[in-house]
Amino acid sequence: MARHYEPFEDQILRGRTMDSLLTLGCDIFGRLAPYSGWHIEAHQFRIEVNGEEVGLPTPEGVHRDGVTFVLMAMIGRSNAIGGESTVFNLDKQPVEKFSLTDPLDVALVNDERVYHGVTPIEQVDPAVPASRDVLVITYRHKP
Ligand SMILES: [Fe+2]
Repeated sequence: MARHYEPFEDQILRGRTMDSLLTLGCDIFGRLAPYSGWHIEAHQFRIEVNGEEVGLPTPEGVHRDGVTFVLMAMIGRSNAIGGESTVFNLDKQPVEKFSLTDPLDVALVNDERVYHGVTPIEQVDPAVPASRDVLVITYRHKP
């Protein structure tokens, strides 16, 4: 599935929240893997449901991002239920389930050791669109 990402607004990219999240990832992942330089990417994911399609946060299903570590931060949910995250071991057996519900709820994932997936979202009130906004920051070892 092709994904189209809106560019970050400048005030978000250069804001204190983004700066804090990037620093949090560098601090924690830097302790787990010292002496590594990082290639860091950030993407804004908005899943919307309007009654016509199922809202799949991870259309590829259970997957790895192909990086070293992943920081997933909830930005906001509106009129949405579902969107439960599951972490799987390398045999794809579930090991942890949780939901990022409130703004800045964060999940830190060792992408080399686990898979992850997110269940579909649905509308609470079917007359109103639902949305789920997540910021995903990936850290990959820089050779
Ligand atoms: Fe992912």
